Amino acid sequence: MERRQFLQTVGLAGAAGMVLGGGVAKAAGLAEFSYMPKAVQIGADGRPKFMLPPLPYEAKALEPVLSEKLVTIHHDRHHKAYVDALNKTLDSIAAANKAKDTANVRALSDALAFNYGGHVLHTLYFCQLNPDGAKAPAGDLADLIKRDFGSFDLLKNWLTAAAVGVQGSGWAVLAWDPLGRQLVVVQTEQHDKLLGWGMMPLLVIDVWEHAYYLDYENKRPEYVPKLLGIVDWATVGQRLSMTMAMTMTQ
Ligand SMILES: [Fe+2]
Repeated sequence: MERRQFLQTVGLAGAAGMVLGGGVAKAAGLAEFSYMPKAVQIGADGRPKFMLPPLPYEAKALEPVLSEKLVTIHHDRHHKAYVDALNKTLDSIAAANKAKDTANVRALSDALAFNYGGHVLHTLYFCQLNPDGAKAPAGDLADLIKRDFGSFDLLKNWLTAAAVGVQGSGWAVLAWDPLGRQLVVVQTEQHDKLLGWGMMPLLVIDVWEHAYYLDYENKRPEYVPKLLGIVDWATVGQRLSMTMAMTMTQ
């Protein structure tokens, strides 16, 4: 499918050359949609400070797939820990840079990648879940899934296997590859290892034990299909529309 068809299908025919930000959303017909919720403010030192985005639903809303206790601990403790560590890491980098102290640049760079990855992925994770959301993809997302994976069932089968098969702690990700202009499924180790540059996450599956152990013990193969059952595929489709608008100019 050529980009012209994409743009016509998603209503982006006049979107070429658009700027990033609100222009993308407006041109894509996504005025009420944000790829990420706004969760940053400028600190006293004039630099951005990340904040923990609130859950877009009650913590008990995802039961029985995910218990209120699990969701609360996952969001309020684990996600928050990445936000706090990210801010602390950026403060440390700013202080070291100002002091021309480069001795810890390697460790600080590792911490930046790890905690930023953790914050981004958890933000996408919580915002994509809605037990009352769309149960199947539509529009361009459905067309691309059929082209790139054969069918929705085949995508879910491959995505589930990728998630279950992550070695140790990590994620399975359905992503838009702007270079190949295709959907791909990738795995990450931790939050940041194995990622492909430029790939835009559309759907992320957290398979760190903290995401499921309280409800599923060590039964990751039971957790993943149930999680996919509360994914809002309309949100995934909106992310695709926005990322295509951001990454395709011809
Ligand atoms: Fe997590």
